[in-house]
Amino acid sequence: MDEDVSLMIPGPTFLHPRVLRAMSKPLMPHREKWFSDLFVEQGERMKKVYQTKNDLFIFSGSGTSSMDAAVSNIMRPGDKVLCLVSGKFSERFTEIVEAHGGIPVVLNFEWGSALDPEKVKEALTPDIKAVTMVHNESSTGVRNAVKPVSDIVGDSTAALIVDCISSMGGDDIRVDEWGIDLCISGSQKCLAVPPGLSFLSVSEKAWDIINKRPGYCYYLNVRKYKEDKYQAPYTQSITLTYALKEALDILFEEGLPQRIERHKRLAEITRSGLKKLGLTIFPKSEDICSRTVTAFNAPDHKSEKDIRDTLKSEYNIVIAGGQAHLKGKIMRIGHMGNCKERDIITTLACLEKALK
Ligand SMILES: Cc1ncc(COP(=O)(O)O)c(C=O)c1O
Repeated sequence: MDEDVSLMIPGPTFLHPRVLRAMSKPLMPHREKWFSDLFVEQGERMKKVYQTKNDLFIFSGSGTSSMDAAVSNIMRPGDKVLCLVSGKFSERFTEIVEAHGGIPVVLNFEWGSALDPEKVKEALTPDIKAVTMVHNESSTGVRNAVKPVSDIVGDSTAALIVDCISSMGGDDIRVDEWGIDLCISGSQKCLAVPPGLSFLSVSEKAWDIINKRPGYCYYLNVRKYKEDKYQAPYTQSITLTYALKEALDILFEEGLPQRIERHKRLAEITRSGLKKLGLTIFPKSEDICSRTVTAFNAPDHKSEKDIRDTLKSEYNIVIAGGQAHLKGKIMRIGHMGNCKERDIITTLACLEKALK
């Protein structure tokens, strides 16, 4: 096993040694007060990261578990859900809706472009129970504006579900101000915790819907979590909770605004460095580029797989390739969590060598 690898992918991200040490603490009985206090406290701290006063739940499971929770708590079989699709992860919502017996009404946007709220307005019919979107589409490196969509959905009876898995804790996400009903995130991205925890906030509007007509779900049932006063009704990931506490200590020591600013700066440095290498950015325009993952077009003269293989074998740096039809066409550099300017500069310098 290689301990020196540089993870420049859109998660999982590099773990701070303090987080690694926190995870070496012994397991203790999780039904004791000290653990429920610790667990509930981390939920309260996550609300600060979410910039919300809504309820927030912590689940054992990767980010997709919260996507599953959001959909399955809010809809029932036969319900229509409007899915705004512009990449691999927004597409996943259509599969989740189908898996729970719902009817996904798919509104497609070209991959690499941002969602168009005008089209959402046209597609939002009164029988739609929920609308799904991804804030930071990691598969294309596009950052979607949430507020223009929430302004439209907010006027309807539908709940707005937003996946912020690869941006929460690194970007400025204002859950209350933007009116997100169900906001999803995961541990292994900007929060720099190992994979295995996910987070879901639930607005009053979403509670009204859920309480009147609960969805069919068991393990990730938010009503059960709320009844248990935000503790996990089932055995919680104790070790990951230690890691989350330490990672949030680190986050608040840095300061949320400062962390958001750092991610913005790292994205700018990455884009300008790539352009200096003669590469082009994949998203249609600079103003829709993600602050946590940069997608760029593979050069014509060398296969992207060769480039990534060289980066790994010669320099021990891992960057990501494209997904679905973008496989072989684009590459992606993740710059989230504990990522520093030095990591970007090193990656770009090694990328320059690998391109030759
Ligand atoms: C935007 C987005 N949504 C969903 C997921 C899926 O999360 P997980 O792999 O943690 O289940 C990812 C993971 O890369 C992601 O970037």
